[in-house]
Amino acid sequence: MLADGQRLIMRPIQPNDVERLQRSFKTLSPHDVRMRFMHPLKELTPAFARQLTRIDPERAFALVLVEAKPPEEALIGAVARVALDDDGREAEFAIVVGPDIRRFGLGRYLMKQLINWCREKRLEVLYGFILQENRPMQKLAEELGFEIGPTDEDTGVVLARLALD
Ligand SMILES: CC(C)(COP(=O)(O)OP(=O)(O)OC[C@H]1O[C@@H](n2cnc3c(N)ncnc32)[C@H](O)[C@@H]1OP(=O)(O)O)[C@@H](O)C(=O)NCCC(=O)NCCS
Repeated sequence: MLADGQRLIMRPIQPNDVERLQRSFKTLSPHDVRMRFMHPLKELTPAFARQLTRIDPERAFALVLVEAKPPEEALIGAVARVALDDDGREAEFAIVVGPDIRRFGLGRYLMKQLINWCREKRLEVLYGFILQENRPMQKLAEELGFEIGPTDEDTGVVLARLALD
């Protein structure tokens, strides 16, 4: 439960979240979308939303925080995911927490869930690409022990890496 009494449920993403994810995407600002997807994206197409909701449990893990409301009303407040690289030794993370529920520690909590999943899978490294201007995410990653690599001047992106041994 958040300070304002709002209740959220954490669960793995499901194939039937497609429309919910599309509706929830609309609550993000263009800035948030660029921070999460690294480029502007006007809408989540049904095809992309389907791709984001269908998870191969052997190769990926994705958690959502959903409002505790009737299913047709409930929005997804946050999504955190990891996907294994082809070699099965490293995984890439991505996360977004909705604007209304930021700075409650949810981003940190979800990132810790991703780290735990990767440790259980005995992966070596969890990494993520973060825009250079995205100080909130870099700060969160640093707090969790990620090393922030040098900026790629061409793309304006930094690499955050966490050794999992
Ligand atoms: C980055 C993001 C995931 C953080 O989520 P959150 O739930 O607000 O983060 P938390 O509340 O767990 O914050 C954990 C720590 O991160 C840092 N942090 C988070 N937001 C911050 C901000 N706006 N400014 C400075 N530090 C910030 C702080 O150190 C914070 O600890 P504190 O609140 O005790 O000071 C969220 O802002 C977001 O979704 N942004 C847009 C999408 C995005 O950038 N995704 C990352 C792509 S890789």
